[in-house]
Amino acid sequence: MQNLALIKLGGSVITFKDQVLKANTEAIDGISKALAGLDVPIIVVHGGGSFGHYWSVKYDMHTKPDAYDPHGVSVVHESMITLNQIIVNSMIKSGMNPYSIAPPAFTTGHKAIPSKVKQLYVMAKSKVTPVTFGDVVHVEGSKYSILSGDALMSILARVLRPSKVVFATNVDGIYKDMETKELVGELKLSKAGLVEFSKVAGADVTGGMQRKVKEAFKIASLGLDVMLVNGLKPDRISQAVTGKLEMGTIVKGRR
Ligand code: IPE
Repeated sequence: MQNLALIKLGGSVITFKDQVLKANTEAIDGISKALAGLDVPIIVVHGGGSFGHYWSVKYDMHTKPDAYDPHGVSVVHESMITLNQIIVNSMIKSGMNPYSIAPPAFTTGHKAIPSKVKQLYVMAKSKVTPVTFGDVVHVEGSKYSILSGDALMSILARVLRPSKVVFATNVDGIYKDMETKELVGELKLSKAGLVEFSKVAGADVTGGMQRKVKEAFKIASLGLDVMLVNGLKPDRISQAVTGKLEMGTIVKGRR
């Protein structure tokens, strides 16, 4: 494991999902401040929320490679660049040294280019923070696909084996049940690994959260602990990175 915090900022934290192309600048600034206070190499991945997601739905684009509308490819990508700029500028204001990097710089299709991914870690160690994002990527010929920020987390975690893997969403973690909002503090991967997911799904993990939990399990199966925290409370991201998490869900890595 390497001394590295790999942090995903979910679209539900950094944008208002129900307001088209609206960034949650207050939340972004809060997170930038929290991250600026950390003394550990960091790589940030962010989602699309009401930017990339909005357009990818409009143009009916999915994770499956296909000949999607080329104009959609352009518009989705540019909307992600716009959101990325907002985030990166907030980080610069807070004193961080972010460095925007689109996924095709270190992936090909949905696969890592290991030497390029390793370079991101070297940058992070030199106090420059790579900031990448879910995006639409070229696969082959006229085929493109959506490469989500969650998938990028797995791609990066597999190569870099970070000591801290954090998913920040707009909820406190995984709930045992939605009504009581009782939180699952810790989840262990059994030998069955991903198969167990269907049982955990008995706990309330619907929609976008379900995908995150699935990705978290995938990363935990590599032997890494994965934390799911509320990014609207930036302290929790700091707590997760410094090993002092007070509220959130830890998916324990299978060792
Ligand atoms: C979004 O990435 C990528 C695009 C739609 C371009 P994510 O799927 O990781 O985004 P959120 O975090 O769920 O919004």
